[in-house]
Amino acid sequence: MQDSLRAILEHRRAIRNYLPEAVPDDVIKRCIESAILSPSSSNLQLWEFYHVKTGIKKEALVKACMSQPAAKTAPNLIVVVTRHDYWKRRCDANLDFNKKVAWEEPEDKPIRAETYFTKTIPTLYFDFLGIFGILKKIFAFFVGLRRPMFREVSAGEVLTMSHKSVGLAAQTLMLALSAEGYDSCPMEGIDSKRIQRILNLPKGAKINMVISCGKRAEGGVYGPRFRLPLEEVFFEV
Ligand SMILES: Cc1cc2nc3c(=O)[nH]c(=O)nc-3n(C[C@H](O)[C@H](O)[C@H](O)COP(=O)(O)O)c2cc1C
Repeated sequence: MQDSLRAILEHRRAIRNYLPEAVPDDVIKRCIESAILSPSSSNLQLWEFYHVKTGIKKEALVKACMSQPAAKTAPNLIVVVTRHDYWKRRCDANLDFNKKVAWEEPEDKPIRAETYFTKTIPTLYFDFLGIFGILKKIFAFFVGLRRPMFREVSAGEVLTMSHKSVGLAAQTLMLALSAEGYDSCPMEGIDSKRIQRILNLPKGAKINMVISCGKRAEGGVYGPRFRLPLEEVFFEV
């Protein structure tokens, strides 16, 4: 298990030149099924995946990816979207699940879930022009003087929180592709506004990244892998 995970991680490289052969639809679907097994903050699952493989939308999407080689040569593109605007409906989905599921230790778990998804999460996610975020920040500062307090409460910080979870799903997707013998490249050097328009997405939906995929061609890996030495990034405390 350890060895096979390591092999998948070693195989995954950022690929900038692909063969024309497309990734079959069933492989893409399986990989997305794996991606959505990723953990997400409060289990809100604020992700969506748009698979674009042919036609004028693909051409437009390549252009919106600045026509960079990783996009231009790729047979398949997947836009990973952060549906930050869906926080309320994903709270409702969690509540529905909590009502239906038979708890192993019922006690007060459904009640706690109800409070969490009807009060705690709405307090954190609701905002209007960033104004509530500023008030929440001041509140967190003063409460934090006396006890440990959750600090990332401004509108921007809550959006970052959503992107974090979606980024985990993006990574799972790339590892799943790698496990299937396919290659990928994550891209954030993109025009998110144009991509939003191509996919007819509302303002509240944010582009997390675009992942190109396919099979690596010669020259697809630009060079040997560079990683900082472990001592520079890992500390025993
Ligand atoms: C969030 C993110 C955005 C990236 N954006 C781009 C990009 O726009 N274009 C590109 O060619 N590579 C992009 N990369 C790939 C990185 O350059 C690459 O992962 C890094 O150089 C390490 O190489 P490796 O993935 O082969 O180990 C991105 C990677 C991440 C994680």
